[in-house]
Amino acid sequence: METIQKIIEYSGFFSILEISYILASILFILGLKKLSHPDTARSGNLWAAFGMGMAILATILFHKVKLPDGSYEGVHNLGWIFLALAIGSVIGWLAAKKVKMTAMPQMVSLFNGMGGACAALISVMEFPHISQDLIDQTGMLNGHTLAIMLGLMIGSVSFSGSMIAFGKLDERIGDIKAGWLRYLNLAFLGLLVVLLVYILAQPERPGMGIVYLFALLALTYGITFVMPIGGADMPVVISLLNSFTGVAAAMGGFLYNNQAMLTGGILVGSSGTILTILMCRAMNRSLMNVIVGAFGGSSAAAADSGDKTVREISLSDASILLNYSQKVFIVPGYGLAVAQAQHLCHELDTLLASRGVEVKYAIHPVAGRMPGHMNVLLAEADVPYEKLYEMEDANAEMNSTDAVIVVGANDVVNPAAEDDPGSPIYGMPVIKVWEAKNVIVMKRSMAKGYAAIENNLFYHPKNRMLFGDAKASMQKLIAEIKNL
Ligand code: TAP
Repeated sequence: METIQKIIEYSGFFSILEISYILASILFILGLKKLSHPDTARSGNLWAAFGMGMAILATILFHKVKLPDGSYEGVHNLGWIFLALAIGSVIGWLAAKKVKMTAMPQMVSLFNGMGGACAALISVMEFPHISQDLIDQTGMLNGHTLAIMLGLMIGSVSFSGSMIAFGKLDERIGDIKAGWLRYLNLAFLGLLVVLLVYILAQPERPGMGIVYLFALLALTYGITFVMPIGGADMPVVISLLNSFTGVAAAMGGFLYNNQAMLTGGILVGSSGTILTILMCRAMNRSLMNVIVGAFGGSSAAAADSGDKTVREISLSDASILLNYSQKVFIVPGYGLAVAQAQHLCHELDTLLASRGVEVKYAIHPVAGRMPGHMNVLLAEADVPYEKLYEMEDANAEMNSTDAVIVVGANDVVNPAAEDDPGSPIYGMPVIKVWEAKNVIVMKRSMAKGYAAIENNLFYHPKNRMLFGDAKASMQKLIAEIKNL
């Protein structure tokens, strides 16, 4: 009889719900896989979004709670839920449409913060509903309470930390580099752990006051954790906070025994962690150094520009050099994004190709200000992916390259990473443009890059500077080449 009852239950809405969660999980995994290649990234994003939409819709329509009388009750307040979904979707859609490429990290930070807040709110909502039967058996020391409290702690830290990261990237909030903040952080973390242990050690469910206090502490910790970290290190911090949000969401998955939430949370948590590690590695810095150490600006490491001379190149010389080269590499950097010169870059590359020049792009893993920044910009300008060479492959070809055009890049082509042990970027893998026969650096001035250190490439005998905004210079250069 019991088996028949189960079959009836599971062949109805439960199975639809379960199947949609499994399908959503599969779509998340496939979507993530597709994100790893620029050609398929767009559809990967859509696949994962479709999976998420399906899981949300299935939950709203098919989630039922069994009542004491044996009947089932569905989700209430459908009107409000769909209204909230509609408002959120419109805001998200408009924000994503309007955001500039250079403001993408801020956007990611804001959206990530929302994920953290959701996870924290779920915990606040679920704390009063921890089953009394469970508490009678184990007190508060059970997996359910632990998942709720960890979701609350990690989600709150991720929310407030992401808001501060957003403020810093948007230049609304400055850095506070006071050393005492480190001790304050440790104190907050210690207090959070003590409070967590206290709540778990209770034989009965404590009142909501202590839960709110716990949330408040976690929110404050998120602020003090991100506050001392340099604004320019925010992409790494955002990636770290992203992984926090994933873990917090996974706690919700445990709580509701929901595969879609669990898979989604684990995927976000693990990919965020991997990305954080990769970024740190590409900058040759430890995560600890990012979190507690200021980067760059050290006078000992700054190359002494002394009496070295900087040579400039005229537009006509640059156009002749490029036009009569056999192989040219373009090295894009943050300045390309600022100048929005990607479309002109592509125009230059097709123009040169039409003159028989082999043109390739050398992409440094942390060029720009976010992972894949250059790939996204160049894809936007329809540069074929086959022309994009990863740093190692590009370096292998530098010896046989006639000319390199560095467009708004600085740190990623700094030879100090190779030959100055005192430099903060020493050991960071860079694109060895100086191994090519000629180098042209396009930038507006002799200003430093993100790491705030001098770049000896600018004084290198093979290098000549083409000063000016990258977009304007590129425009003039294209016009000169067309006249040849
Ligand atoms: P940077 O070293 O930051 O140099 C960018 C250069 O672009 C500046 O020196 C600037 O010089 C020039 N520039 C700015 N606006 C320009 C414009 N309109 N036209 C022409 N040039 C312009 O950039 P990079 O070489 O791409 O290196 C990226 C840095 O960011 C690395 O240090 C990396 O570690 C760090 N970082 C990256 C990431 C990720 S994930 N990508 C995350 C965190 C940190 P002028 O002002 O003289 O024009």
